[in-house]
Amino acid sequence: MTEPLMEVQHLYKAFGRVITAEDINLRFHRGVITSIIGPNGAGKSTFINMMTGSIPPDSGRIMFEGKDITSLPIHKRVRLGVCRSFQVVDVFPELTVFENVEIPILAAQRRAWKMFGLVTNERSVHEEVMEILTKVGLDANADLLANALSHGDQRLLEVAIALAARPKLLFLDEPTAGMNPIERKRILQGIRELSQEKKTTFVIVEHDMDIVFALSERIIVLHHGEVISDGTSEQTRTNDRVREVYLGEEVDL
Ligand SMILES: Nc1ncnc2c1ncn2[C@@H]1O[C@H](COP(=O)(O)OP(=O)(O)O)[C@@H](O)[C@H]1O
Ligand SMILES: [Mg+2]
Repeated sequence: MTEPLMEVQHLYKAFGRVITAEDINLRFHRGVITSIIGPNGAGKSTFINMMTGSIPPDSGRIMFEGKDITSLPIHKRVRLGVCRSFQVVDVFPELTVFENVEIPILAAQRRAWKMFGLVTNERSVHEEVMEILTKVGLDANADLLANALSHGDQRLLEVAIALAARPKLLFLDEPTAGMNPIERKRILQGIRELSQEKKTTFVIVEHDMDIVFALSERIIVLHHGEVISDGTSEQTRTNDRVREVYLGEEVDL
């Protein structure tokens, strides 16, 4: 088996008496679309926060491409290729759609320029922005101000912004929240295509079970900070503990 992109060992986190990570051990491999599901308060967002550096674990280790990143700050993880989008919309409302994606690309190039003396190529920046916008289906809206977009389109823009940093591993926290069915379908398609290119590996926290089962090659179920299931759609559907946890919820497994 090849080296995992990310590996989590004995991760533990509690907020007071609430345990949000109970000895989590997981490996994420390149190109595998993984969903993390679980009831509200299971610890899904906290897990993403720990992976991407906004919350430190109480104990345990996070490895990325064989390197211990447990204590690295957010920006250093981004530089290595570990990125995220948030559960709430986070775009620059007064800038255009194009500019929102251009900024992180230019920032990445400036770093490359500093390190290797590369010259910025404006045409390639334009092309790269448009390529990313096309992937998420926002190319026709490039010149609109971000705040003129529908809520769902703003969420697509967020994904585009996250992609602009050229992540190797991208965590999406409820990317379809507030989206209509057309926008959901679009983001689903976009993630699938991007995943096939294998440059970015996706780990997605998602409520919509239709999307989870349609998209995921692997589903991890968290409950009170504990991984209670880890497998294919079929294995998840037939897992007794998962059925127990979701029993009584409006979820069709
Ligand atoms: N910064 C924090 N301070 C205190 N408690 C928190 C904090 N963040 C999350 N929690 C608690 O940790 C638990 C897991 O939260 P969260 O990771 O947001 O769950 P999920 O995303 O699965 O709904 C919840 O009980 C939540 O109230
Ligand atoms: Mg959450």
